[in-house]
Amino acid sequence: MIIAIDGPAGSGKSTVAKLVAEKLGFHYLDTGAMYRAVAFRALVDGVRLTDEERVGLIAENCEVSFAHDEGEALPTRVFIDGQDVTAAIRAPQVDDAVSAVASLQRVRAAMVKQQRRIGAQDDIVIEGRDIGTVVFPDAELKVFLTASPEERSRRRAAQQAAQGVLVDPAGVRDAIDKRDLADSTRQIAPLTPAPDARVIDTTGLSLDEVVARVVAYIEVWRP
Ligand code: DC
Repeated sequence: MIIAIDGPAGSGKSTVAKLVAEKLGFHYLDTGAMYRAVAFRALVDGVRLTDEERVGLIAENCEVSFAHDEGEALPTRVFIDGQDVTAAIRAPQVDDAVSAVASLQRVRAAMVKQQRRIGAQDDIVIEGRDIGTVVFPDAELKVFLTASPEERSRRRAAQQAAQGVLVDPAGVRDAIDKRDLADSTRQIAPLTPAPDARVIDTTGLSLDEVVARVVAYIEVWRP
């Protein structure tokens, strides 16, 4: 069974997807991490982010893989061609670069191919932007999480503070707004709920409440 969890930055997607996977003993795939890994490599190689030929070649020739941290239930360590980029892909420079990279057709085609291969494992929670619409349109359950821009900026700032990053709240809001606009207006696979997705507005809901709703949807499938 594939559970697709899509939504914008700060919608709670990652936390919810991980908790649902842990609770159900499912595999877990963070597709945003894959685009981030490609963006990171492009930055390190000094490639212009809009150069589809060169960024496309990086995406087509790399392998993004995941591993478990010791004692962790889910594979949250991220590698590109064997290089551990778990922390590096969360840097603000990657935040700023990733939307441009993720809007390139060749990058998306290469990542979708890797995602379909990884997702072929049975029972998996996959989080992203286009999982229910493009990558696995036949997923048994599609959830689309949203939250108000204020709430999403607040969560993102808290996440950065927890990672020890010096937080500028206005900058966080600006970065979220820019990324939302780029992700939802791009020509290929824009961020939008699948027609058959269950949309949950997580503003004002606790994490437990959101997880409980998702699990309740699943129980309809697996009584
Ligand atoms: O979920 P995230 O913030 O780590 O995602 C990073 C970027 O990757 C985000 O700007 C949108 C893009 N992305 C995408 O285009 N398609 C996906 N399936 C996942 C992420």
